[in-house]
Amino acid sequence: MPASDPKIIVALDSPGSKQALKLADQLDPQACRLKVGKELFTAAGPSVVRELHSLGFEIFLDLKFHDIPNTTANACAMAAELGVWMVNVHASGGRAMMERCVEELSGFGADRPRLVGVTVLTSLNEAELKEVGVSRSPNEQVLLLAQLAQSSGLDGVVCSAQEAQQLRQHLDDSFLLVTPGIRPKTSDTNDQKRIATPSEALESGVNYLVIGRPITQAENPRLALLDINNEIQLAGH
Ligand code: C5P
Repeated sequence: MPASDPKIIVALDSPGSKQALKLADQLDPQACRLKVGKELFTAAGPSVVRELHSLGFEIFLDLKFHDIPNTTANACAMAAELGVWMVNVHASGGRAMMERCVEELSGFGADRPRLVGVTVLTSLNEAELKEVGVSRSPNEQVLLLAQLAQSSGLDGVVCSAQEAQQLRQHLDDSFLLVTPGIRPKTSDTNDQKRIATPSEALESGVNYLVIGRPITQAENPRLALLDINNEIQLAGH
């Protein structure tokens, strides 16, 4: 486990363990955590998580579970058995689902994975939400689901930097905000639309920054990570 609490979570969006491990080899577990998502996990399975653990990294298992309470809670327990640092579920799975997950994870003690909720996928706009029967605006729906996640006992939510400011005003200080769509000033925006720099996001009350391509596709990923950590420190975070 890193001695520090690095704020950066590097998204290892690789199609297999070989590429993921090659990248991880260039990074420092004291300077970041790693996110294993659906692509890498479907390709490589739990063994890639074990290998990344053996390199000293803490892992955010980003599988966004969404199922009946019993199935979701059991999946969370398997993530805890695997020893991951963070795991997530869709908050729209409802209170009973989230509470069962919290209860299941509490059996793993203080070292249990942090459990965070996904509110509204940032790829969905207002018209698409209406199409699936949600008449609130995306912002209102994000706040409603984040408050439900908090009152169900979750440790935090995944949100955009733009949502973070509003959420911070309505949620406990200790409730974690985990935010993708981060781009250092000098980086390509890729396909991300609503972006923030690492310092802007932290100023909005974000606790952890999920950053993929600006680090994983940099010529020197270790240096790119170091630069971002320096920017954060210089800004007083
Ligand atoms: O390469 P990039 O920094 O854009 O990667 C961001 C990571 O965060 C990816 O793994 C992406 O799937 C994830 N993510 C996101 N936007 C969301 C939720 C997750 O970019 N709303």
